[in-house]
Amino acid sequence: MTMNGREMSSGGRLRGVVLAGGRGTRLGCITRVANKHLLPVYDRPMIFHGLEAMACAGVREVMVVVDRGDLDEYRRLLIDPLEHGLDRLELGEQDGPKGIADALAVAESFVGGNDAFVLLGDNLFGTSLAAAAQEFAGSRATGMVMLTPVENPREFGIARFSGSDGRLEEIIEKPEHPPTDLGVTGAYFYRPSVFDLIRGLSPSSRGELEITDLNNAILSRGELDWSDVEGWWADAGTPDGLLRASLNAADRGVNGGPARRSLVHETGGDPY
Ligand code: DAU
Repeated sequence: MTMNGREMSSGGRLRGVVLAGGRGTRLGCITRVANKHLLPVYDRPMIFHGLEAMACAGVREVMVVVDRGDLDEYRRLLIDPLEHGLDRLELGEQDGPKGIADALAVAESFVGGNDAFVLLGDNLFGTSLAAAAQEFAGSRATGMVMLTPVENPREFGIARFSGSDGRLEEIIEKPEHPPTDLGVTGAYFYRPSVFDLIRGLSPSSRGELEITDLNNAILSRGELDWSDVEGWWADAGTPDGLLRASLNAADRGVNGGPARRSLVHETGGDPY
């Protein structure tokens, strides 16, 4: 199958989960009335890029988890799975911003006995994650995270490695004294057993079920792999991140596609 001229992996038993709940307060007052993932990244709603990331990784069935209060907007926007290169597109309801791992738990019955490719809806990638999906499929790990160097390590989950053998030892959420500049991006691969591990988590001091606690639980069992992100990456959850995501999408392309500025100009603003 191709999308915008790109070859996509044929896919296997991998279900997609795009997390689009939360409050988005770091983007200021616009998120009082509009969910963050509905804001444009260059020419399209942010969530469209995440759905394209799923299709490019070979996923055909996706659940988008949204806050209960945002369901109507998503029902109006996400009309046809085929528009996104998907066969099935469902909405899951999160009951308030109780954390990323809580949002993932909403998708448990949708994922069923399949592996899951989980994407934070505000994360954008310059290249396709098809190779990462294949790497995970061929591994025995329970989970895999994707790392990339970041300029502001105090704002992300950061990887710490052992000095002696270079093994990933811990992920530290927004560390005051970052041990490295290697950020954990919002693309995660999991086996179905991840849902049992979520049940074992307790809320953090800010009252959320943290994805970093989940990944550290997998790490402590020696079952977490990691891989490098190729190409650019942006967390569009802040004004600077949103701007960088839009400029990169326009000039360098998203998910391995061509620069979207050229698509927009060729098609007069409707690249589908
Ligand atoms: O962007 C990568 C970073 O994302 C990682 O480095 C961090 O380890 C990870 O915790 C996360 O940090 P953020 O502070 O950026 O997370 P944020 O609260 O912005 O949530 C990210 C996405 O997760 C958001 O776009 C929607 C989804 N989400 C979040 C919460 C809190 C939900 O679906 N439900 C929620 O309750």
